[in-house]
Amino acid sequence: MNENIPVHVGIIMDGNGRWATERNLPRTMGHKNGVKTLKKLCSHVFKRGVKVLSVYAFSTENFKRETSEVQFLMDLFVDSFYNEFLFLKENNVKVIFSGRREPLPASVLKSMDKLVDETKDMTGPIFNICLNYGGQDEIVDMVKKISLLVKDDVLQIDDITKDLVNSNLYQELPPLDFVIRTSGEQRISNFMPYQSAYAEYYFPKVYFPDFSEKEFDIAIEEFQKRNRRFGGNSK
Ligand code: IPE
Ligand code: IPE
Ligand code: MG
Repeated sequence: MNENIPVHVGIIMDGNGRWATERNLPRTMGHKNGVKTLKKLCSHVFKRGVKVLSVYAFSTENFKRETSEVQFLMDLFVDSFYNEFLFLKENNVKVIFSGRREPLPASVLKSMDKLVDETKDMTGPIFNICLNYGGQDEIVDMVKKISLLVKDDVLQIDDITKDLVNSNLYQELPPLDFVIRTSGEQRISNFMPYQSAYAEYYFPKVYFPDFSEKEFDIAIEEFQKRNRRFGGNSK
């Protein structure tokens, strides 16, 4: 068996709304089923040997949605972080978040902080949840952090390298090897642009609630067929 497993996988969990609409259900039911799918998928992804899984749960731009949908999602996050994701600790998974805290409600921040705290000593794989995340905002925030360090003479301009940039993003992670976006849309919608400079992309047609463990295995097979060159010669 080809054991070329990507170290860092990103999943843009898209299509919850359409999944529900096609079943004559409210969009919110799509989000609920999305959480169920994510729980099953998470264990499977780590079992396959992936070291870091980043998932796009809510973009900064998603605040443009109807208030009732945003509210539902915020409540769903709180419920999921308190009640649904504790199994991660049993699997030695460390949970981290990427994104801006502002303007997330205090209840959401509290549930995030608790999950992070509960899993902070875990030594296994990393589960990075991108919540109120925007890739361009992440770059702006990184530039501000580094500028302050330069202004305060902690750093010189020449100290700014790709590694320094990477360590001043929301989280310091290895580069993304593989990015999967479900639902058939072929765009990244502001998901981890710096980290995905050399990522392979994969766009399965299924909506996220239907993205099963089997679908993930198919995705990995596809990844293993790719010839990654990183600008060098082809193999
Ligand atoms: C992804 O599903 C979940 C979030 C963005 C929170 P969507 O809600 O975008 O579902 P579609 O794309 O409208 O079907
Ligand atoms: C991207 O999906 C964000 C998440 C999956 C959380 P969207 O549904 O918000 O993206 P667009 O609007 O189709 O680009
Ligand atoms: Mg969508």
